[in-house]
Amino acid sequence: MMLEMHNLRKSYGKTEALRDLNLHIADGELFGFVGPNGAGKTTTIRILAGLLRPDAGTVEIDGQPLRCGGSALKEKIGYVPDYFGVYDNVRVFEYLEFYASAYGITGLVARRRYMELLEMVGLGGREENYVDSLSRGMKQRLGVARALVHNPRLLILDEPAAGLDPRTRQDFIHMLKEINKCGKTILFSSHILSELSEMCTDIGIIENGAMVLRGSLVDILARVNTSNPLEMRIYKNLSAAVALLRSHPLVHNITIDGSRVVAGFSGGQMDEARLLSQLVTEAGALVGSFGRQQGGLESVFMEITGDKAERVVARG
Ligand SMILES: Nc1ncnc2c1ncn2[C@@H]1O[C@H](COP(=O)(O)OP(=O)(O)O)[C@@H](O)[C@H]1O
Ligand SMILES: [Mg+2]
Repeated sequence: MMLEMHNLRKSYGKTEALRDLNLHIADGELFGFVGPNGAGKTTTIRILAGLLRPDAGTVEIDGQPLRCGGSALKEKIGYVPDYFGVYDNVRVFEYLEFYASAYGITGLVARRRYMELLEMVGLGGREENYVDSLSRGMKQRLGVARALVHNPRLLILDEPAAGLDPRTRQDFIHMLKEINKCGKTILFSSHILSELSEMCTDIGIIENGAMVLRGSLVDILARVNTSNPLEMRIYKNLSAAVALLRSHPLVHNITIDGSRVVAGFSGGQMDEARLLSQLVTEAGALVGSFGRQQGGLESVFMEITGDKAERVVARG
């Protein structure tokens, strides 16, 4: 495991920001940490970056416990905060040299390192530019280069895509995928689920300071789909088909709109196949289409954050 957090608690005065948060991230994951504003994402990330001390709970990175201010573990983490300050009269290379020197990387080694990093984040050739003259998207990339200066194994980004236009965000996400392929484990937070569905291998949803769902994107989507209603088009013998559906033990909440029938169905894939066969052979229905409605991640998010039940999706 690259990261393990157990029963993390953190309060700000009377506000409980984290309530027994558990989070595990395996080596090599591109993990999307999603939750509405105020859910506790930044608090979690600041604890990971060693900037905040939890009230209770444990954090292990790469098998070693994290202590606030512990420098040994900071070497394993690169942190991109959710804001980017103002840097008067600082050039891109000076900015990176400064951070490199903080890790004892200087001279030619530092130069080689920042040239390589600028290439990696798509800012090759911009080393002489002033940081303040860069666009928001470029500053965000520079923030990633800075976070990677000491070659950490885990890169953590707090809402890096917030405020970027769709095209810039797309390019940024592509860059993160490439960095992930180069062997970095990545944790990326967002309050917009669809932002993550294009890029993450795994997601965790935080709500009110606790994880409400965690799993691989594929498992989560598959699981959501089995809770979606069945939708079918029936062109002949509709009433016989509906009668069959009404008497079926796994079917509930039938709605009929012309030839379109939507029904809740609590069976698995084999039950679906059997039902389709029954509709055709027993009710004599002419079935044009038959399948689960496809729920996007957005609908899962709405469903999940609507109730507080703990759900964990088995990892395949
Ligand atoms: N410095 C702080 N002082 C008081 N309350 C805070 C502070 N930082 C965050 N909070 C509160 O803690 C909760 C979690 O906030 P945060 O971790 O920033 O969530 P997120 O990043 O998911 O939006 C919110 O209720 C927020 O208002
Ligand atoms: Mg935040």
